[in-house]
Amino acid sequence: MVKAFCIAGVTALTLGVTGAWAQKPVFGTEEDINFADELWSAMEDAGLAGDGMLRSFPYEGVAPHGMMLETLYTTGTVDGHTGDLVIKRNYGPEGVSIDAVLNDPGTHLSAVTVMFRRETGFDSDNQDWFWVKYLPDGSLDKNPEGMPLAGRVAKGMDAGCIACHSGAPGDDMIFTTDHIAAQQ
Ligand code: HEC
Repeated sequence: MVKAFCIAGVTALTLGVTGAWAQKPVFGTEEDINFADELWSAMEDAGLAGDGMLRSFPYEGVAPHGMMLETLYTTGTVDGHTGDLVIKRNYGPEGVSIDAVLNDPGTHLSAVTVMFRRETGFDSDNQDWFWVKYLPDGSLDKNPEGMPLAGRVAKGMDAGCIACHSGAPGDDMIFTTDHIAAQQ
């Protein structure tokens, strides 16, 4: 069922993207891919991803992120720029217990979705967030058309990270908290 949610989300995303893709990719560009790689390395260096990463107590989440989640709020530095960094680890399958995740997180981790606040002007309409969906090994998840989910995902489209997170309370595009200040 978790998979079904993901597939539905990505399909909707694809439909939205098809038209714009022909003109100019709004996300998943080479620059976005390189930036996502650097961000993953920064997360590994900080002990937030990869072997031996810091863990917190998983909690029951809502679609589309999976049924068991871990969310971490911190800052990160990439290319000399330091910004807000929110990491969500998505565990499955549906019905998985907290104990099962704690006992064997590696097997249950299905994706790592991240918001990183880039420099002012990166995407002023959307709080300058860089959106990325990694697979557990740090490679990038892709939509069915092969577009890596990294960057302004999916700016101007009806579905995707930006469309959905625009509905989050406060002006920060973050659902779980308003403690991270919105960009002025
Ligand atoms: C259909 C709506 C929807 C879509 C699409 C979506 N999210 Fe979320 N996202 C949520 C909800 C709801 C939460 C809060 C979940 C919770 O913790 O219970 C959330 C939480 C998060 C968080 C933790 C910060 C916060 O907002 O609380 C991150 C990081 C995140 N999502 C990243 C992404 C990325 C990256 C994408 C695209 C690849 C994405 N999300 C797509 C609905 C969505």
